[in-house]
Amino acid sequence: MNSKMRFLAVPFLFIFFLLPSAESVTYNVQSYGAKSDGRSDSTKSFLSAWAAACASVEPATIYVPGGRYLVGGASFSGQNCKNNAITIRIDGTLVAPSDYNVLGHTGNWLTFERTNGLSIYGGTLDGQGTGLWACKNSGKNCPTGATSLGFYNSNKVLVSGLSSLNSQNFHIILDGCQNTRLEGVKISAPENSPNTDGIHVQSSSGVAITNSHIGTGDDCISLGPGSSNIWIENINCGPGHGISIGSLGSNLQEPGVKNVTVKTVTLSGTQNGLRIKTWAMPSNGFVTGVLFQHAVMVNVQNPIIIDQNYCPNRAKCPGQASGVRISDVTYQDVHGTSATEVAVNFDCSKKYPCSRIILEDVNLSYKDRPATASCVNAGGSSSGLAVPKACL
Ligand SMILES: *[C@@H]1O[C@H](CO)[C@@H](O)[C@H](O)[C@H]1NC(C)=O
Ligand SMILES: *[C@@H]1O[C@H](CO)[C@@H](O)[C@H](O)[C@H]1NC(C)=O
Repeated sequence: MNSKMRFLAVPFLFIFFLLPSAESVTYNVQSYGAKSDGRSDSTKSFLSAWAAACASVEPATIYVPGGRYLVGGASFSGQNCKNNAITIRIDGTLVAPSDYNVLGHTGNWLTFERTNGLSIYGGTLDGQGTGLWACKNSGKNCPTGATSLGFYNSNKVLVSGLSSLNSQNFHIILDGCQNTRLEGVKISAPENSPNTDGIHVQSSSGVAITNSHIGTGDDCISLGPGSSNIWIENINCGPGHGISIGSLGSNLQEPGVKNVTVKTVTLSGTQNGLRIKTWAMPSNGFVTGVLFQHAVMVNVQNPIIIDQNYCPNRAKCPGQASGVRISDVTYQDVHGTSATEVAVNFDCSKKYPCSRIILEDVNLSYKDRPATASCVNAGGSSSGLAVPKACL
């Protein structure tokens, strides 16, 4: 069938939606010299394709065909872009340099800064973190490693159907972003890979993370200071350290976390389930307006936990209390199995006790028996099913 016939065969509505995209300009990275052999450094080609898309006043698509592309550290800036509708469609895999010393001290592998209206569809990022994890796990002095994909100070970012494998450090960071959506993302690194957090959000508002599978060596999702209006739905997490608000409160002056919804999540074999974690140090930070709803725990070590006495190397905070005020946190319909006896653990600040913590329809068991709960400086109430019996 020739293309004209196919065109006639599509219903009118589809033609209607296809026409505008037919007008967008496409920049194929191979036209800029990128090689899909996994060995030739294609960094400059990707940057050139970005510069061209950026300079276009029409909606622009950067296309990455199938194959493996070696890309070193690259920063894509939207600062002087004429374009507020850039799409990056990736069929291939971007591969980081395997020698971790190349990016180890740079902070990031791929970054987008000051973009406005950026969509990324598909693609795989291979961070090649194995060497760095081995270094870190051997207790040697190693570089921090690079975050695979960072979005900074950007507005209207959409990431759909992206896979991130084996990051050196974090997989994805959103920092200073508004109106951002990550959907259908797959993140994977082994359980023993240090600091490979899945998605970390901070200083950002209006972020949705949905329909994603995250298995990694650290938090699946973590929300840092200044996260607000966050929607997290339909997430599978495990292995990993769970879904975490924090760590917060390591600074005296710190923006708070507010209006967070985490719903329909499954945590399997993770260290934590739904966690809020703050340093035991003075701070003006806060957490308020959090709803955890419809969570299933499968053999999770700490299914529900608030830890305000976080102080990994005790030197920094002996005898101190966390200044972070935690209020209005609801856990609704949380059930499944705990890998430890204490499945609900609220260890709040002695200076600023947690307030209005609500448990509704919670049923967590440990070894086929009801699990137990522990509360320190935690106020609130419980309704509906309460296994373990709430201690609020
Ligand atoms: C809370 O966040 C959601 C998005 O997650 C948003 O739709 C809603 O308007 C926010 N509520 C307030 C009071 O800002
Ligand atoms: C709580 O969960 C356990 C095991 O998951 C189940 O056997 C028990 O019936 C549940 N309790 C209630 C009251 O629903």
